[in-house]
Amino acid sequence: MERPGPLLDVNLSAGYPGRPGVLREVRFTIDPGEVVGLVGESGSGKSTVALAIMRLLEFKGGAARGWVRLQGSDLMAASEPQMRAIRGKRIGLVLQSPLSSLNPAMHIGDQLFEAWHAHRQGYPNRYSVPDMLDLLELVSLPEAAPLLKRYPRQLSLGQAQRVLIAMAILHRPALLIADEPTSALDAITQSEILNLFSRLSRQLRMGILYISHDLPSVASVCSRVAILRRGEVVEFDAARRIFAAPQHPYTAALVRAIPRIPATLDREWPGARDKLSPIPCGAATGCTGQALQIAATPSKQAC
Ligand SMILES: Nc1ncnc2c1ncn2[C@@H]1O[C@H](COP(=O)(O)OP(=O)(O)OP(=O)(O)O)[C@@H](O)[C@H]1O
Ligand SMILES: [Mg+2]
Repeated sequence: MERPGPLLDVNLSAGYPGRPGVLREVRFTIDPGEVVGLVGESGSGKSTVALAIMRLLEFKGGAARGWVRLQGSDLMAASEPQMRAIRGKRIGLVLQSPLSSLNPAMHIGDQLFEAWHAHRQGYPNRYSVPDMLDLLELVSLPEAAPLLKRYPRQLSLGQAQRVLIAMAILHRPALLIADEPTSALDAITQSEILNLFSRLSRQLRMGILYISHDLPSVASVCSRVAILRRGEVVEFDAARRIFAAPQHPYTAALVRAIPRIPATLDREWPGARDKLSPIPCGAATGCTGQALQIAATPSKQAC
C-alpha cells in the first residue's frame, strides 16, 4: 500500500539583501501528527526557515527559492491572497515572546474573536464565550472566563503563551510552527508547554515544527530532529539516533554540551536526583542522558 505523503516537505534556499546563502537547500519533512525539531545556534537561520515556510520572508526584505509542499501543494507558487487564506488557517505560528505577539490594548477575548473572524468563512456566524473557553481548556487554561476580560499585561508569561498557542490552533491548522516558544519562560512552565505541544500533536493530529537552540527541550518532545548549522541541515534523523549516535561533528558537539547530572550531586544534595526528570526522555529518544531539569509534571506525559 502506498504511504501517504508527508504533511510538509521543504527544500529552501534563502537570503537577504547583502546576505546571500543564509539558507542553502534546507531539506526536511514533517508527517501528520509529528513534532519535528529544528535546532541550531543563534544566527544559523532557524527563524528564516519559519518565515520562508509562511512566505513572510519578502516582508523582511528577503527572498527564498525551492519548494514548500504543504499537503502536496507548493506554497512557493501561491499568490499573496492565497497565502493570507493559509496563514492562521492551515499553518499556525507561535513566536518566542508572547507579550509582544499579543495586542497590548485588546482584551484576550476580543483577540480570540478577531483570530476567529479572520478566517470565519465556512463557520456558523458566531464565536461565543463557551467556544473560547473550550479552546482555552484545550491549551490547559481551564476555568478561564476571567482571563477573557483581561489585557495581555495582566497575564503571567505562561498564561500569555498558552493564549497565543490557543490563537494559533483556533482553526485547527494542519501545521503549527513554534519558533523558540519557551525561551522566555521559566523551566517549569517550559516543561508544561512542551507537554502541551506533545498532546496537541496527538490529539489534533497536527504536525509541529518546533524551533529551538535548546537540544534537551527538543529531545523531550520531537520524534525527528534537523540540525541546522550556518544555513545548512547537517543532519536530519530520528531524535533517538541523533542523541545515541550523532553522525556530524557539530551534532556530536551539541549532544556533548547537554548538561549532565554532576557525580557530586548525591553527596552535596542528598535526594535531589529523585527530583530531576530525565531529559532527553527515554521514550522519545532512547537516550538515557539526564539533564538538570526539575520535574514539573510527570515526564511520561511528554512521551
Ligand atoms: N532582514 C535581514 N537582513 C539581513 N540579514 C538578516 C536579516 N534577518 C536575518 N538576517 C541574518 O540571517 C541570519 C539568520 O538569521 P535568523 O534570524 O534566521 O537566525 P536564527 O537561527 O533564528 O537565530 P536566533 O536563534 O538568534 O533567533 C543571521 O545571520 C541574521 O543576521
Ligand atoms: Mg530566530
